[in-house]
Amino acid sequence: MAMKLTMNGREVTAEPGQTLLEVAEEHGVWIPTLCASEAVRPYGACRLCLVEVTKGKKTRIVTSCVYLAAEGISVRTDTEEIVSTRRMLMELELASSPGSEALRSLAVRLGVDLENPRLAPDDLSPDEPGHDCILCGLCVRVCREVVGVNAIGFANRGPQRLVVSPFQDKASLCIGCGSCVYVCPTNCIRMEEQKGVRIIHNWKAKFKLIACKECGNHFATDKEIAHLIESCGMPEQKTRICHSCRT
Ligand code: SF4
Ligand code: SF4
Ligand code: FES
Repeated sequence: MAMKLTMNGREVTAEPGQTLLEVAEEHGVWIPTLCASEAVRPYGACRLCLVEVTKGKKTRIVTSCVYLAAEGISVRTDTEEIVSTRRMLMELELASSPGSEALRSLAVRLGVDLENPRLAPDDLSPDEPGHDCILCGLCVRVCREVVGVNAIGFANRGPQRLVVSPFQDKASLCIGCGSCVYVCPTNCIRMEEQKGVRIIHNWKAKFKLIACKECGNHFATDKEIAHLIESCGMPEQKTRICHSCRT
């Protein structure tokens, strides 16, 4: 049964199981996010989506992407405390990935002064593990939950935490689909294609690209095709033609 709650003083309805972030989106209330995506389960890593919730006499700050809506609660998404905490969190993210356009434009929207950063940026070189990574975990979750492969994961704790391939060696389970690359908000997973080969540098993985039988364009890796046949039972001849030629 639908529940009633208030969001920034306005009464809204929510379905059981909906998070506050989903309710906000449904009612046109903007809450910034960096680690949330409809494609994967929430993880609560960036904390940028925090909001203030009052339940009875208790008020606390929660992360809206994992907090479930409840009958009668009052939610504020824009208090002074929320706005300044988000700004500080955003500055921390920017220090990890100072060049990211997506982060910079979100920071501007949150009122961060880009010209006078309060935190020194990380100075990892592009070849070092962790360069520009904000540990949002989107790549790990997409690989596991959407692609169904689980080729990469987190290693270490605290400041040494990293997203890596197992033992920081070649990711043997990776099929080279590139989903982690597309979902990464800071573009820090380096993928390149040349002469029929796709390389994903971060996972030390190299793949042969297959050319479409109709148009000749490279469209998938050999391992992606093998994965489609094995996991979806797709007939082999269908996997040799690219999406555009099939439709
Ligand atoms: S490219 Fe590899 S690591 Fe990235 S999502 Fe695909 S299978 Fe997972
Ligand atoms: S590599 Fe990209 S997607 Fe993965 S955790 Fe780091 S920032 Fe997020
Ligand atoms: S979007 Fe909720 S913690 Fe990142």
